[in-house]
Amino acid sequence: MEQKEKKQTVFSLIQPTGTPTLGNYLGALKNWANMSDEYDCLFGIADLHSITVPDFREKPAQLRKNTRELYALLLALGLSPDKNTLFVQSHVAAHSQLAWILNCYTQFGEASRMTQFKDKSAKHKDNITVGLFAYPTLMAADILLYNASYVPIGQDQKQHLELARNIAERFNAIYGELFTVPKPLIGKTGAKVMSLTEPLKKMSKSDENEKSYITLLDEPSSIVKKIKSAVTDSESEVLYREGKDGINNLIIMYSACTGQSIKEIENEFSGKGYGAFKSAVADAVVKELMPIKERYNQYIADKEYLDKCMRENAEKAAVRSQRTLNKVMKKVGFLQI
Ligand code: TYM
Repeated sequence: MEQKEKKQTVFSLIQPTGTPTLGNYLGALKNWANMSDEYDCLFGIADLHSITVPDFREKPAQLRKNTRELYALLLALGLSPDKNTLFVQSHVAAHSQLAWILNCYTQFGEASRMTQFKDKSAKHKDNITVGLFAYPTLMAADILLYNASYVPIGQDQKQHLELARNIAERFNAIYGELFTVPKPLIGKTGAKVMSLTEPLKKMSKSDENEKSYITLLDEPSSIVKKIKSAVTDSESEVLYREGKDGINNLIIMYSACTGQSIKEIENEFSGKGYGAFKSAVADAVVKELMPIKERYNQYIADKEYLDKCMRENAEKAAVRSQRTLNKVMKKVGFLQI
């Protein structure tokens, strides 16, 4: 008799710190929707991570609003709440509980080396919390609770994933095979979409300059304007070359939206100049994002449905994560009653 193979688990979260950008989308979200046939997928919203920086602390109404909107957006991406487990991190207590335990197995030195911690603490010099420092151990807990084999992320999260792998291996060495050691899944194109105004910086939803990023819910006219004013260089040939960071970024976006290779794009725009290229990039991005925006508008209008999906999916995640947490607590030596 043919044995049905158990699907491998895929896990990833996104923070509700604002409407996701084209960077979040091309780097991570676009891949999520394609994975649920082949894998057992858990995706969701990392709201506990959002209070590690001052922007979202002490703004409870904003955090609640962002979380619901992001959930509607995940549905609009085509992620099925029945096929996947689509949940909000703070609804599942095991994440915070395992994070505490993992903190006690993580060295101060290794957490201090995280570049995102260094960058964010440089940005908020007078407001660096223990939570910001412990951010990567919470992320490790998220992943390890579900024994995820793969974590689809952008390049900027690779170091955090490396730490999660180290913690898993350390635990397994002490207590026997307990955690699956997760692997990052980083796309070939779109793994690091850069800012439109400073193409050496990653595109980020927390950037103060709104012209530097495109969000998934931007109006078409705003997308066109932002791409037309994107920083390029003083040449005119559309070529992917070192030093042409602005053009390289637009080529990557175009490639990720149309599926064309870099070579094909260079050929298509040979001799046509930056103006024509920018118009084509803007059209491709608008074409990619508009169906998402339309579906989003339908989901966000149905609060009852959103809440029902969140509740049911939190339950699914709670059952699975509790199983792992129980095993860990037993191994570590907490008295079972
Ligand atoms: P977040 O919310 O910053 O970003 C969500 C996803 O988008 C990717 N990304 C990008 N990809 C390409 N170009 C960019 N400019 C760009 N900006 C962001 C990120 O790499 C990420 O995959 N710590 C995570 C959330 C998290 C998580 C997890 C992820 C919490 N627990 C467990 C995976 C597994 C974060 O802040 O992502």
